[in-house]
Amino acid sequence: MGAKANRSRHGGNSQSKMVSLSEVTQNRDLTQRISTTINEFDRVLGGTESLGMVPGEVILLGGEPGIGKSTILTQMVLGLITKSTQKQGKIKPILYVAGEESPHQIALRINRLKSAPSITDAQKSTKETLTESLLFATTTDVDELLTLIEKSEPQLLMVDSVQTLTTQDLTGAAGSIGQVKEVTTRLVALAKRLHLPTFLVGHVTKEGRLAGPMLLEHIVDAVLELSGDRSLELRLLRAVKNRFGATDEVGVFRMTESGYQEIANPSQFFLETRQAEQAGSVITCVMEGTRPLLIEVQALTVKTYLAQPRRVGRGIPINRLQILTAVLEKHCQIPTAHYDVFVSIAGGYETKEAVLDLAICVALASSIKGIPLPEGTVFLGEVGLLGEIRAAPLLERRLKEAKRLGFSKTYSRQTHRALRALLSELKIVSA
Ligand code: TYD
Ligand code: MG
Repeated sequence: MGAKANRSRHGGNSQSKMVSLSEVTQNRDLTQRISTTINEFDRVLGGTESLGMVPGEVILLGGEPGIGKSTILTQMVLGLITKSTQKQGKIKPILYVAGEESPHQIALRINRLKSAPSITDAQKSTKETLTESLLFATTTDVDELLTLIEKSEPQLLMVDSVQTLTTQDLTGAAGSIGQVKEVTTRLVALAKRLHLPTFLVGHVTKEGRLAGPMLLEHIVDAVLELSGDRSLELRLLRAVKNRFGATDEVGVFRMTESGYQEIANPSQFFLETRQAEQAGSVITCVMEGTRPLLIEVQALTVKTYLAQPRRVGRGIPINRLQILTAVLEKHCQIPTAHYDVFVSIAGGYETKEAVLDLAICVALASSIKGIPLPEGTVFLGEVGLLGEIRAAPLLERRLKEAKRLGFSKTYSRQTHRALRALLSELKIVSA
């Protein structure tokens, strides 16, 4: 009885409320993950045996305007259509709700992506399949859209963006809190009933999370956020909420002229432009979820002419920088007070991990004294107010990643208890 009753449009009658576990698990297709065809994306969505979307999962993709939300979804469309073309039989279409751009503009983007080196030849030859398998909906009325979805039975739904849809049952304008919530609730109900994986695009402003996405957090299954500095090529995809997986994985991408390139080996990416023999350059290792990332901390110090020297940090918390310069001055006799100090993480990466402290201190000392660090060294550890070095959590994993990339010598609490002793061994300060 269950299945049939569940199909009733409004689903509100009492007979549809019970279903046994065996009925639920019977259909293997509904318990298997669906790959997005983008590995780094699948990694963030999570899974145990296989990674990717769960049938009926509703995923909200947030990020500031222009960061590349539409681009990554379009790239996914291309990948999925290619994948289904390689299978036998009838291809279920992908329905793309084009609220922000016209289908014509999206088609232009597709052409741009198809010339990408990351897109395989198979994809280039799917032109015909693409035109048939990608359906655009331009309606802004969610109820009309629901009917379209029932009719076209898509394999995947992309709503770009949820802020452009409205229902006539409410009076608010598109994008208003009430509308966005109601539209999402209706889409979620249908996605669950049809086991249709659904992506909703939502905007987030630079200043903070405006109404949209955060309001919807409890309605959807997963909230992913795409971030990065628009002027740089690095893009990170993180899960803020994930009903079907962990929230600590990160997907790493490079935004290129022809779409996203996955960075399967982020450590290499962050270190690729490094000039090892320069004073002020130090390598450390942060953790992104289960994945260790080797990054370069750069310090630039110049004699100051200001009563209050400048402390500028990019990618690190500024108050950490202020504390660490004071620690260097007090406990290591490095005259930071005479210098303007600029510290940044190469590649546009951002982190608040305390394990960076040691690298920041060593980079500053190295820059002020003009002494570069020995090649192949990594610095790991928090630094306390008394100049003591504290242990780095998950040290083994970080060490392994460092070794893998040829950094054989690690400085941490295991080698030195005090910052001063470490700097003197490196001959940056006298013993
Ligand atoms: P877009 O996906 O439209 O951003 P969003 O949907 O998040 O608002 O991407 C916007 C930027 O990405 C735009 O400035 C152009 C750039 N871009 C590339 O660098 N490479 C590409 O292949 C594409 C399609 C866009
Ligand atoms: Mg867009």
